[in-house]
Amino acid sequence: MATEQRLGVCYYPEHWPESRWAEDARGMVEIGLQLVRMGEFAWSRLEPRDGRYDFEWLRRAIDTFHGAGLDIVLGTPTATPPKWLVDKMPDMLALDARGQPRKFGSRRHYCFSHAGYARECDRIVAALVEAFGEHPGVKAWQTDNEYGCHDTVESYSNAAREAFWRWCRDKYADIDRLNRAWGNVFWSMELRGFDDIELPNLTVTEANPSHLMDFQRFSSDQVVLFNRRQVEIIRRHSPGRAILHNFMGAFTAFDHYAVGQDLDAAAWDSYPLGFLERGPRDEAFKTRYMRVGDPDFQAFHHDLYRACGRGRWWVMEQQPGAVNWAPWNPAPARGAVRLWTYEAFAAGAEVVSYFRWRQAPFAQEQMHEALLLPNAEPNEAYHIVAELSGELAALGAEARTARSAVALVFDYESAWAWSIEPQGQDFSYFELVFAFYRGLRRLGLSVDIIPPTPDAVADRKLVVAPGLFTARPELAQALARGGAAVLLGPRSGSKTPDFHIPDELPPGAFRSLVDVKVRRVESLRPGVTVPVEGAAGHLEGWREFLTLGEGGAARLCSTDGETILARGARAFYLAGRPDDVLLETVLRDVLACAGLATLDLPRDIRVRDNGATRFVFNYGDTAVDISSIIGDAPLCLGETCLPPRGVAAFTASPA
Ligand code: GAL
Repeated sequence: MATEQRLGVCYYPEHWPESRWAEDARGMVEIGLQLVRMGEFAWSRLEPRDGRYDFEWLRRAIDTFHGAGLDIVLGTPTATPPKWLVDKMPDMLALDARGQPRKFGSRRHYCFSHAGYARECDRIVAALVEAFGEHPGVKAWQTDNEYGCHDTVESYSNAAREAFWRWCRDKYADIDRLNRAWGNVFWSMELRGFDDIELPNLTVTEANPSHLMDFQRFSSDQVVLFNRRQVEIIRRHSPGRAILHNFMGAFTAFDHYAVGQDLDAAAWDSYPLGFLERGPRDEAFKTRYMRVGDPDFQAFHHDLYRACGRGRWWVMEQQPGAVNWAPWNPAPARGAVRLWTYEAFAAGAEVVSYFRWRQAPFAQEQMHEALLLPNAEPNEAYHIVAELSGELAALGAEARTARSAVALVFDYESAWAWSIEPQGQDFSYFELVFAFYRGLRRLGLSVDIIPPTPDAVADRKLVVAPGLFTARPELAQALARGGAAVLLGPRSGSKTPDFHIPDELPPGAFRSLVDVKVRRVESLRPGVTVPVEGAAGHLEGWREFLTLGEGGAARLCSTDGETILARGARAFYLAGRPDDVLLETVLRDVLACAGLATLDLPRDIRVRDNGATRFVFNYGDTAVDISSIIGDAPLCLGETCLPPRGVAAFTASPA
């Protein structure tokens, strides 16, 4: 069932005098907003003292905004436990890897494993849901806020340690099994019982990677359980309301697919300029895109969170102006906020909600722009949103997405594995997968991001899985059975789930797809490259040396005679990290094998297919003629000479 695509905004009634609310609500409706999120940090006002609730102000706020015609997304306030609660149970604070408390005075100062804190959360969530769960204005819930933000997934507290013992006991039952799985005979690390297990911090040198991996799995599971408790309480008392969580960009510390399983839809917080400034791209790239963001970063996350929400997803916070948290905080270019909004809707978002309605003149985020200035006069984005909502209403856009022929595997365990054992200090799983995404998008492909499961790879023409930690036999079999072309490597299938090198050597069970063995790997410092015979581009940072079996053929070799790209019947193995030029050559080869057409896109142009509708985006600051992309289809949005930061759309005529 298709849903209407809607705009919303984040609002903090507790920050403003009550006398102002009605005017704010009117203003929101006037510029075409339809939803408002509130409540997610308001615990100290909802329960000023232990057990003394004050919900009446929130009821009046909900009534006011609902009365004005807005739907309410209510947040649970568990990201900001108040001072009285911390004082009541000081050991609820998380401890960092140095053993230092993450103190009160900002937010997210809690340990996911603390049973007492979990009960306090049950209590406040239940009280809130009993009060507002069936309010006709409350249409959706947000659990907590940005799990893991400010590096808060792992905690090294006693509560975490004891919970980790239980987790290990459930997993291994017998300590000798754990000793074998972790390889604890190495360095005499053998343990006598589960309560011998320490957390893997403060060790003299590196802790055992199997231990670190299980600790990461455990920490991720704690987030899943914490979220699930809230979801279960909300479901009991607030029937029919969608439950979401707002995830982050470039963040991998827990398994977002697993949290998503308990939600009705996923959401993420999209700050294109902040993420670009914070990210690893070079200075020239950052300067070029400083006012519009990386042309592929938002789209990557839209596709990722669509997978986490099993098809349903929102942008819960959309940057509307300069933010306050990146190394530099430029203002968006004219047209950027509109382009970001369309990019999300083109990828099937149900809602795009701006952060925030009015800039706060006090506390931590004073320098963060909003739709209104601190004095409540309209800021730039206010006018942009007013115009955009009119356009969207005229288009009558509906949220829908079609299954894409190309799937790119993104796997949280792999992200943990390669940060535990990078082997070269700049090896990043996120950046590796993102490079493949970028390469595909530059060739005009629209991509589904998927977890490494047999279901997700079914009915594809191409499956790409760089750096996938383990080759699970069921995935290898599904890939062998399905008709898709497959691109693997580097590091794909290079460990067992226990974090050992597989007996058959990497790529483990993937060898059934392409008959190669990885006999040696090396990481390379910046500036060192491995050139390719007869092709432009090179490997950089990471290189593997393959031994080909009978079913593997060399497609590309290095100038020193080693295989760089090997091919089986329909599967390819890439033996290193390619630069963008070599990656393009490899992708063209693999796409041809998959029978998929590519586009020659100008540098700043990106395309998104959603069913029969093709969207075209100009991330550059000069106009671009896109007639070769459009052909003779009539445009339903935009112009053939696409202005800077412009958006066009048309319905592709059936072939
Ligand atoms: C998000 C967070 C918001 C606000 C915003 C500022 O990470 O969820 O509460 O802090 O960043 O950009």
